[in-house]
Amino acid sequence: MAAAITGVGVTCPSKLSQTAVGRRQKRCASIIRMTLVEEKKKTYSLKKSEEAFNAAKELMPGGVNSPVRAFKSVGGQPIVFDSVKGSHMWDIDGNEYIDYVGSWGPAIIGHADDEVLAALSETMKKGTSFGAPCLLENVLAEMVISAVPSIEMVRFVNSGTEACMGVLRLARAYTGREKIIKFEGCYHGHADPFLVKAGSGVATLGLPDSPGVPKAATFETLTSPYNDISTVERLFEANKGQLAAVILEPVVGNAGFISPKPDFLNALRKITKENDTLLIFDEVMTGFRISYGGAQEYFRVTPDLTTLGKIIGGGLPVGAYGGRREIMEMVAPAGPMYQAGTLSGNPLAMTAGIHTLKRLKEKGSYEYLDKITGQLVKGILDAGKKAGHAISGGFISGMFGFFFQDGPVYDFEDAKKSDTAKFGRFYRAMLEEGVYFAPSQFEAGFMSLAHTSEDIEKTIAAAEKVFRTL
Ligand SMILES: Cc1ncc(COP(=O)(O)O)c(C=O)c1O
Repeated sequence: MAAAITGVGVTCPSKLSQTAVGRRQKRCASIIRMTLVEEKKKTYSLKKSEEAFNAAKELMPGGVNSPVRAFKSVGGQPIVFDSVKGSHMWDIDGNEYIDYVGSWGPAIIGHADDEVLAALSETMKKGTSFGAPCLLENVLAEMVISAVPSIEMVRFVNSGTEACMGVLRLARAYTGREKIIKFEGCYHGHADPFLVKAGSGVATLGLPDSPGVPKAATFETLTSPYNDISTVERLFEANKGQLAAVILEPVVGNAGFISPKPDFLNALRKITKENDTLLIFDEVMTGFRISYGGAQEYFRVTPDLTTLGKIIGGGLPVGAYGGRREIMEMVAPAGPMYQAGTLSGNPLAMTAGIHTLKRLKEKGSYEYLDKITGQLVKGILDAGKKAGHAISGGFISGMFGFFFQDGPVYDFEDAKKSDTAKFGRFYRAMLEEGVYFAPSQFEAGFMSLAHTSEDIEKTIAAAEKVFRTL
């Protein structure tokens, strides 16, 4: 408090009666709070970020190495960060933010966790990459296999994109078929066959498809609206005996947060089984997030194959695909389907993954994520509605989202009805209040075990204030 008083130039008088002291202290505290808020507002500057980003634009396309980071859909200045810890981030201008992006999912136990950092530095002493088997691969593989119901064998790769590329080749190799069904607004990385009505950055930038993707690469990709089993049935009918796989995000995070309708996943399981088509859950986002065993454990629907990423690398580059042993044994060198990687299974990524999963496995982790995420989402929805805005949203465990519309949102077409301009204004104002959400209406939010009730209360208070001004 003393520092705050000096900092804003307010002093409390000392020689007063007890009640007068109480009253005076309250007034002082409120003056200090007001002054601090004004001070903060005055001092919120992104000058250094602006300079760095302008320089970056000359060096890298759009100034970034992944499109959504450029803030195109929310406008304003992208923020250049300096450091992260727990649930907070600091930019190069010295501004502090409560973070609900969590590096797009991996930071589920909080950023720069002390235990993970200590384990990494121990591993690093032995080297960063062997290009040969290491024991840590066995440890993480065992953890993944025992956690995720569909996975009997696993192959580690370096990103979610790579995992989805690999799993698609495997599904085609195993079934001897080429056609696949994907869902509008679902994102499975940036490999050619998936860049059809894809979510995430493609949706954020409003890109129809990407130039450079040969027609032949997407010719066998059929699409359906999410949550629409009758379109899926029609596609199966029209392509009898030709469908290798149905791939989906079991809970969508790349078109905003969209839950599956109660029987959607079961219906997909049934129709794929009946047609000898493989069901693939892309759990790059939901794996170890909505429960330890992912969406398949949460919804009790077991796919044939699963992709993972993000959390299992604890903040280092990683991906994985896995499934039934007889299918996985198609993968080279056990079988003929080729897929390889110079840095795959490297000791650093394995270490961060192992220690992240260990923490998640502790009793109460998912209950805590569920509780605080629920509080946040309820608080934001209440604040928006109270101020007269159309807003809807939801959450499962530590994954959430809200749309600037009344909803309900069942698919990407519904999601697109959101007031994205208003979301942009909300987004930028929340930054000034020290809250960092994903810079797009079409991305989910992520909570971590490091978030506190205080973080949530501050965020809701900021949202209440911002909603009143929109
Ligand atoms: C569901 C899903 N699949 C695949 C990917 C691609 O992963 P990466 O960005 O690691 O390549 C993502 C990325 O966000 C994702 O959310």
